Amino acid sequence: MKYKILELLKSKDGFISGEEIGKILNISRSAVWKNISKLKEYGYKITSFTNKGYRLEDSSDVINDYEIKKTVTTKIFGKNFINLKETDSTNEEAKRQAQKGVSDGFLVIAEKQTKGKGRLGHIWTHSNNSNLAFSIVLKPDLIPEDITSLTLIAGLSVCVALRKAGVVSYVKWPNDVIINGKKAVGILTEISCEIERVNYVVVGIGININERYFDDELSDKATSLFIETGKVFKKAEILNLVLNEFEKNYYKFIKTRNFNSFVEEYRTLCVNIGKEIKAVSKKETITGIVSDISEKGELVIKNPENNSIFLASGEVSVRLKDGKYI
Ligand code: BTN
Repeated sequence: MKYKILELLKSKDGFISGEEIGKILNISRSAVWKNISKLKEYGYKITSFTNKGYRLEDSSDVINDYEIKKTVTTKIFGKNFINLKETDSTNEEAKRQAQKGVSDGFLVIAEKQTKGKGRLGHIWTHSNNSNLAFSIVLKPDLIPEDITSLTLIAGLSVCVALRKAGVVSYVKWPNDVIINGKKAVGILTEISCEIERVNYVVVGIGININERYFDDELSDKATSLFIETGKVFKKAEILNLVLNEFEKNYYKFIKTRNFNSFVEEYRTLCVNIGKEIKAVSKKETITGIVSDISEKGELVIKNPENNSIFLASGEVSVRLKDGKYI
């Protein structure tokens, strides 16, 4: 019943009286009131005024099982999911779920992460209710080398999804998503594999959505959709756009195991091309100008000696006009 009331509230721009709700749903006013109280407990912001009734505030941005099922329109990704109030890291939970045998496209989403993880051992701190933190379990018939491409495709998919939401975003190789020169999305891909076979992949995605500000230390580098556009976004809608885009690209990729058909779009949206960068890989630090993204998805760097270096993985900082690196 509470969700029927929720749908009525959503369908009204202004107030709807308890009496009207009661009449439409054939329940008493006190039943209306009890269900409204439950919805408030679930985090929906509902204003009530005597003589006017109830109004669902636009700022209500709740992610619960109901909102996920209602909003996510994919065929496979996120059709099976768990939605947690709190977890250590959605990637860790996704790995536990993968070991239990969940199917391809299983989604783990959490309101709060207590040990959110970033790439290369960093921590991912902005894991609160204003933002999205989720992981997708994938069970592709791929070999471990293919996963580097899958990581690029995840970044590309998020970037395109944000563009579909009206946010002008770019990809920073390999898979950060950047808005106005600052990072708004981080992606951490982890795999369980044997030499020739991938058992499962976990793609963890953190998107800063409605975060209002970042501490001094981070404000130079990090941003959110809200900070860059001044608009509040519905998290479930962004989740849906990302899952749809990634699902489409993932199934296209696993058919061909080829990055080829993504490279043009990746190049167009890649913030690194033509920029001076510093790349830190396990073996070395390289500085130079990025000349291209190869068909395999490698970063092609022209070093000061004019040699082309192909980088398959590593951490890359882009040098901006003011000399700062992001
Ligand atoms: C990075 O940019 O270093 C990657 C950050 C990845 C963060 C996401 S949030 C959801 C998922 N769970 C984690 O612990 N990490 C990823």
